[in-house]
Amino acid sequence: MAQIASMSTGPASAACALRERNDGQDSRSASIAAFRHVRAETERRAAPLSAEDQVVQSMPDASPIKWHRAHTTWFFEQFLLVPHLAGYRAFDERFAFLFNSYYVAAGPRHARPKRGLITRPSGAEVAAYRAHVDAAVERLIADVPAAKLADVLRVVEIGLNHEQQHQELILTDLLHAFAENPDNPVYDAAWRLPRGDKETRGFVDLAEGIRTVGHQDAGFCFDNEEPAHRALVGAVGIARGLVTNGEWLEFIADGGYARPELWLSDGWATVAAEGWSAPGYWRRQDEDGDDDCWNVMTLAGLVPVDPALPVCHVSYYEADAFARWAGKHLPSEAEWEVAARGGELDAAFGVVWQWTRSAYAPYPGYRPVEGALGEYNGKFMVNQMVLRGSSCATPHGHTRVSYRNFFYPPARWQFTGLRLAEFPI
Ligand SMILES: [Fe+2]
Repeated sequence: MAQIASMSTGPASAACALRERNDGQDSRSASIAAFRHVRAETERRAAPLSAEDQVVQSMPDASPIKWHRAHTTWFFEQFLLVPHLAGYRAFDERFAFLFNSYYVAAGPRHARPKRGLITRPSGAEVAAYRAHVDAAVERLIADVPAAKLADVLRVVEIGLNHEQQHQELILTDLLHAFAENPDNPVYDAAWRLPRGDKETRGFVDLAEGIRTVGHQDAGFCFDNEEPAHRALVGAVGIARGLVTNGEWLEFIADGGYARPELWLSDGWATVAAEGWSAPGYWRRQDEDGDDDCWNVMTLAGLVPVDPALPVCHVSYYEADAFARWAGKHLPSEAEWEVAARGGELDAAFGVVWQWTRSAYAPYPGYRPVEGALGEYNGKFMVNQMVLRGSSCATPHGHTRVSYRNFFYPPARWQFTGLRLAEFPI
């Protein structure tokens, strides 16, 4: 658990303690400090980008950076200020339509694939919107009556965790846009994918047993991590290390992308439709030749594929096919969580999200948050797969062992990789 503890320091993690400290000035101060810290991190990630960088939408699943900055602000306005700050007036009545994402209960909204066409409001107007809402939120936290403080801090906490999720999307959506640019733009020349804690091989064996999984402490979690419940786990072995680029090169060399017997039917159809022959953002160094030397587009621009690094930007379909080729499986999310709680996994956090073979479904006894925020997670619990851990793009203080990320099986623009599992013979 050392990885988690080391990532839970600083003002952002102060938000995680708010539910226990909601009766006085300390909790107000801690909330304001956490709020400022998280809001500033969004701006820090956007700061190197030009106005043009911030308006482009390279595919329907990705959103413009300017939209992320405005949407996270609308979230506080819609779900915190409007219901809780008496007399609050929206910064601009048009913004709810432009910057609502998918909350049906919050009213009509602009079509997601057309977010890149919102050239106005300008970036400067979005900055003013953020400043307006920031001031109002801080005023609310400072002045709300004690009897309502807990309710306010709960929504602040959700809003901050929501904004941290968008901070990760800022980097992944930007990388997708930059990868479409023939000039291979550089976001941060010093950016590198972490290697993990150590060179780790082999499998950790989990004995068969009934174990408790799901959120189990007093800190913040999303509703989809609850309730904690018992699950049958094992017997199974979980790989201590992540699958590497070097191993993926072996998969490619063995015809991995050309052998239908390795693929789920939907996955094989996707390989054909998309023309996949390597992970996302990989490009042959000699585009006209047939050598197996690859470059990869990263936040540091185009760099050679490093065989020692964990493989990244693979879909669930690819992860599943690789596991089948290797004679292994993907772990279930319960297996992953039990192994991670035991501190047995290298690079469980902070490198790449790890696909599991678990469908994204409600835990037994799951109840969504009441009201419009109940749309946050629950309505997406079909047709997606769970990823565990966190990635190099996940903000500090936003990592938990019970965290459930989820994406559709073909998605690969996130920082997604895998570790393997094996069953006893
Ligand atoms: Fe959102």
